[in-house]
Amino acid sequence: MIRSAIVPVAGHGTRLLPATKSQPKEMLPVARKPIVQYVVEELVANGIEQILFVTGRNKSSIENHFDTDPELTRVLTEGNKKDLLAELDFEDLEAHFFYTRQRFQKGLGDAVRCGENFAGEQPVIVALGDSILGINAQSKAVSRMAQLFEEKRASCVVAVEEVPREDVRHYGIVDVVPGPDGTLRINRIVEKPSAEEAPSTLAVAGRYAFSPLIFDMINRLKPDKRGEIQLTDAIQMLCEEGKRVLALPLREDERRYDIGNFPSYFETFVEFALADPQYGDGFRKWLEKTIGKKAAKA
Ligand code: UTP
Repeated sequence: MIRSAIVPVAGHGTRLLPATKSQPKEMLPVARKPIVQYVVEELVANGIEQILFVTGRNKSSIENHFDTDPELTRVLTEGNKKDLLAELDFEDLEAHFFYTRQRFQKGLGDAVRCGENFAGEQPVIVALGDSILGINAQSKAVSRMAQLFEEKRASCVVAVEEVPREDVRHYGIVDVVPGPDGTLRINRIVEKPSAEEAPSTLAVAGRYAFSPLIFDMINRLKPDKRGEIQLTDAIQMLCEEGKRVLALPLREDERRYDIGNFPSYFETFVEFALADPQYGDGFRKWLEKTIGKKAAKA
């Protein structure tokens, strides 16, 4: 099993300004929890024992969130607020946290490279800190990826999901060939292609399993036109070198919620709020009433 994960959280999050001016987008709440807490809980539920956050300036709240807060615990204990104390149970998650900084935001490939020494000679999961898999992060995709990685001796496994053709320009898109053993081998991967150029509608979905070879590829890459090192280009190099790069399709109930832009953030928040065990039903009634009133006025 793969036991280590790199979680890049150093991006500027400019598409969510002004919300992200002085706080990381990965700390924005979706219903009750910050986005990155869902990501960490998912990783731990998938057997990950050590997590490296690749952070940057203005990201110290992530570190604080996963640390204990003795003062807060004392206040809640003295006030006998047991239910609120239970909300801090995630502080005891069975994982070791490590932090490093990406000095300049030179792209996802460069952020992943910051984890080279952390990974060492071992395979590693990369999980984007702004993407949740499945409602309340109920996904076992990372375990399936790790299993596939080991069984097929792959160099890379990428989680993928179908997206509408008009949306391919927002994602890394893969060209796959089904193998006789039921695997999907990736031939080619293209970053944000146009609808006409896209080789398929299978989009990369924010989770990857890599052998340490990925760092050799990243280290050989030159920055692109925008001065960024793209992880997609490093994966494409693995394909070109004839390495085994496989796709793992997400199940319908573990779709990827990408929180990088406002429409998607709004949708994710509403879906998670509707699924809230305590407040979901009341929120649904309020939402239906509000939409009904708006429709009646129109
Ligand atoms: P995005 O591609 O959404 O980039 O990053 P971004 O810079 O955060 O956002 P915009 O485009 O300015 O709105 C996907 C994930 O990769 C991390 C981000 O923090 C996010 O979790 N990332 C991206 C880095 O860690 N470093 C980078 O240089 C770029």
